[in-house]
Amino acid sequence: MKLLAGNSNRTLAQAIAAHLDMPLTKAQVKRFADNEVFAVVEENVRGEDVFIIQSTSYPANDNLMEMLIMTDALVRASAKRITAVMPYFGYARQDRKTGGRTPISAKLVANLITRAGADRVLTMDLHAGQIQGFFDIPTDNLVATPVLAQDIKENYPRGDDLMIVSPDVGGVVRARTLASRLDADLAIVDKRRPKAGESEVMNIIGDVEGRRCILFDDIVDSGGTLVNAAKALIDRGATEVSAYISHGVLSGPAVDRVTNGPLKELVITDSIEQPDEVLNCPKIRRVSVAPLMGEAIRRIANEESVSKLFD
Ligand code: R5P
Repeated sequence: MKLLAGNSNRTLAQAIAAHLDMPLTKAQVKRFADNEVFAVVEENVRGEDVFIIQSTSYPANDNLMEMLIMTDALVRASAKRITAVMPYFGYARQDRKTGGRTPISAKLVANLITRAGADRVLTMDLHAGQIQGFFDIPTDNLVATPVLAQDIKENYPRGDDLMIVSPDVGGVVRARTLASRLDADLAIVDKRRPKAGESEVMNIIGDVEGRRCILFDDIVDSGGTLVNAAKALIDRGATEVSAYISHGVLSGPAVDRVTNGPLKELVITDSIEQPDEVLNCPKIRRVSVAPLMGEAIRRIANEESVSKLFD
C-alpha cells in the first residue's frame, strides 16, 4: 500500500504515516505559473493500493482540484485501487436544493471524485450521514465522537451538572450519541438562519440553569452558531459553555468571536490544517484524529472491518 498527500493537510498526513509506520510516497503537487495544478508521483505505484490524503478545506476549489488531478495521475500510473481519504469533505453543506435554480454541489463533487477514478472514499463526520449515498463507490464515514468523548472525560469531570447541547436541530442525533456515551443530559438549541452565514437562537429545549454545557457539532465556520448558542445558554443560567467540533473551518471572524466571546474553550480535531492565528489562540485546542484515520486505512488495506472504530 502507498500513502500520498496533497498540500491541504500535510501535518495530518505525516501523523497518519507515522501512525502506520510508513513513509509518504514521494510526489509533487505544484502550480504552473498560471496556477494550474500539476502532480507527479515519483515512485512506482503500479498494482498498489493507494490512499490519497487530502481535505477539501480552504482553499476548497484548489484542494479539490489537487485531489482530482492526483487521482488521475494514479489511474494513469496503473494503481490497483485508489482511496480518496478526505478527513474533511468540503461542499457537504450544499446537500440539497435550497431554492429554485440552485445546485446540489455535494453530489457534483462526489461525482467528480468518482469520475476522476477513486475506487472508494474514507471521510469523517460528513455534515449529514446520507451524503455517503451521493458516492456510487464504497464510502466509510468515520466519526470523531469516540476521540472527542475521551477528551471530554479527561478534561470535564463527569457530574450531574454536565450537559451536552446540540447547537441546532440538525445535529441532535450526533449530540445524543455523545450524551449517551457520557451518560449526560441533552439540550437542543432551536436555531434559525435568517440568511446564509447568519444564525439566530429562537429557543432552548431543556433546562440549562446551573449546568456546565458542552456544545457539540460537526463544523465551526464563522463561529456565529457557537457564539450565539453560548450567549443564549449563559443567559439562561449555564455556569460555563465549551464546544467540541469535528471540523474547524474557522473562516472570517471566527477566531475573534471565540477569543472575545463567552466560550470557555473550543476543541477541534486536526481534520483541517490551521494557520498560526488558530494555533496560537489560547482558547482553541486540537485533538488528533491521525490514529483514527490511520487505523481505518490499515483496516481497509487489510480488508478488515472498520466497524470497531465506531465503538
Ligand atoms: C450547520 O448545520 C453546521 O452543523 C454548523 O452548525 C454550521 O456550519 C456552523 O456555521 P457557523 O460557524 O458559520 O455558524
